[in-house]
Amino acid sequence: MLLLIGGTAAYHVRLEAHGHVVETRHVVTPWGMAPPFRRLATPAGAEVWFTSRHGEGELKRSAAFVNHRALLWAAHTLQVDGILTWNGVGGINPLLRVGDLVVPDDLIDWTRARTARTGRRPAAPWSGPFWPAGREAIVAAARDAGEERLFDAGTYVVTEGPRLETVAEIEAAALVGADVVGMTLAPEVWLAAELGLPLASLCIVTNRAAGTAWRDERRDFSPRVAQRALGLLLRAADLLLTPPS
Ligand code: HPA
Repeated sequence: MLLLIGGTAAYHVRLEAHGHVVETRHVVTPWGMAPPFRRLATPAGAEVWFTSRHGEGELKRSAAFVNHRALLWAAHTLQVDGILTWNGVGGINPLLRVGDLVVPDDLIDWTRARTARTGRRPAAPWSGPFWPAGREAIVAAARDAGEERLFDAGTYVVTEGPRLETVAEIEAAALVGADVVGMTLAPEVWLAAELGLPLASLCIVTNRAAGTAWRDERRDFSPRVAQRALGLLLRAADLLLTPPS
């Protein structure tokens, strides 16, 4: 089964608006409790697991304090086959505006103090951080849904947090080729790789990165972000689970 991991505003998402919740699992892992996993029927009648990495009801763990090891270990315990996530990001690339969608194809990891090991060996062979079929499905789902501001590749720089970046840090990130900035995709994608779980991400620009807000002053961390992202990831899951006949 696939797992969808909700990011920005997932703690406000109304799952019933998207499908029927058929089961809930509270998985205890060597790193503590994972957030609840809910098994959800998709519009096409398939089933996926859904979890909110920041917890439910409110932002229980902000980006820098997400228990990635518990979450990924729970995914492994539930024998998930692949993972689609959404991640709110700051836009660095000058083309990006608030609300734009980016499906990253590469990562720069500027975290320093996150634990990216579960004790398993990384899955080999190494083919880059993101799941190609998952990325294609997200892109196709967004196009099918009529999303016009979609970038089908980009580099995500992960910062340590919990503080926001300085203007100079964002300028440095732009110089080394980063398009978006966030705090959650690492170590999530490294842990998934270690456990043999392919992962692809849908990034939604929630704000312009530090020092670049003059390009677009808006900020959107509202429940709409989650409703939209979950709808798109459910469509992508259906594309992966029910190949065209
Ligand atoms: N910086 C880091 N993480 C983020 C941002 C940002 O500007 N926006 C959303 N997540």
